[in-house]
Amino acid sequence: MQKFTLAVVGAGVIGRTHIERILKSPEFTLAGVAEPSQAGRQWCAERNLPTYDNHCALLDATQAQGVVIATPNATHVQVATDCMTRGIPVLIEKPVADTLASAEQLIQVEKDTGVPVLVGHHRRQNPILQRARQIIAEGRLGQVVSANVMANFYKPPAYFDVAWRRQTGGGPVLINLIHDIDMLIFMLGEVLAVQGSLSNSVRGFEVEDTGAALLEFKCGTQAVMTVSDTATSPWCWDFCAGEQSQYPRQNVQTHFLSGTQGSLSLPDLALWHYKGDRHWHHELTREQTTVHEIDVYVQQLRHFRAVAERRETPICSAQDGWRTLQATQALLNAAQSGQRQTCPTFRT
Ligand SMILES: NC(=O)c1ccc[n+]([C@@H]2O[C@H](COP(=O)([O-])OP(=O)(O)OC[C@H]3O[C@@H](n4cnc5c(N)ncnc54)[C@H](O)[C@@H]3O)[C@@H](O)[C@H]2O)c1
Repeated sequence: MQKFTLAVVGAGVIGRTHIERILKSPEFTLAGVAEPSQAGRQWCAERNLPTYDNHCALLDATQAQGVVIATPNATHVQVATDCMTRGIPVLIEKPVADTLASAEQLIQVEKDTGVPVLVGHHRRQNPILQRARQIIAEGRLGQVVSANVMANFYKPPAYFDVAWRRQTGGGPVLINLIHDIDMLIFMLGEVLAVQGSLSNSVRGFEVEDTGAALLEFKCGTQAVMTVSDTATSPWCWDFCAGEQSQYPRQNVQTHFLSGTQGSLSLPDLALWHYKGDRHWHHELTREQTTVHEIDVYVQQLRHFRAVAERRETPICSAQDGWRTLQATQALLNAAQSGQRQTCPTFRT
């Protein structure tokens, strides 16, 4: 198979993750990087990467077959539109956009141009999550009645030297919990309504440091989620799912799904059920499923290539990104208003 030529816009934290994967892979070539900051350009120069001040200069000078957009949220849709109107497919980091209206504009551009979009909710690439989704779809849990999710971890003080991380919208709900919300939507389908509560009682910044959410799914599942970036805690997907090597690996579980016929924990994929009659006095059987570990970011690039070549449909489309953003923003709105927020279906 011929190499696929990618360009990357934004050489920050996640942009570098993508660039490093591309440079190591025999399947991809890196045409260039767009990065305005001195620090980012320096990082690129140390690797002899063709670097441009902005994404239009990059697009004009190269022949990219796909573009990875790893810039701040508010720029995603403009950069994507400039790629798509040139006929170039995009992998947009999560969240798909900074607002729902902006995400809707992107969906319109996709319709008008016919150019595919993949949203970088990378956990959907994880075989653990894909197997869990399959177990649920096969009815092994029966009707999934409840889900419990923990996303609790500690971010050091220096993380908050950047102003936007102290302000509304820069907190662990939109940065971190959105991944867990996306996981639940991937497994359980659409969210019907959200209630929530946020606190900034530890750091006292404008943005939350801790939150709790109750998500009602259309399938009937009631999900309870907590998030905190000021908790000394191992209970966080990034620590136990092995997707990113900067986090020391913890042997704990973070996602628990209970159904009328069985229960499933993640990431260990332990399935609990009764061998015979269901009765709370009877012994439960624990069945273990294992899957191959993969590099989810490499898998995401492979899938992106297949999407760009129209061989696969996106595992996370622009509309999927809109749904996840909508449920996440509904949590912020619910916490602010003290009111349960309903989540309307996407209008096509
Ligand atoms: N999927 C994941 O695991 C994951 C992890 C972290 C961040 N993200 C997402 O990736 C995006 C970037 O986050 P980050 O943590 O890497 O941020 P960052 O601030 O570390 O990096 C962003 C980079 O984009 C550059 N930039 C800004 N405007 C630009 C423009 N118009 N054109 C080109 N470059 C521009 C900045 O100079 C910076 O180097 C965000 O949307 C974030 O939510 C995803």
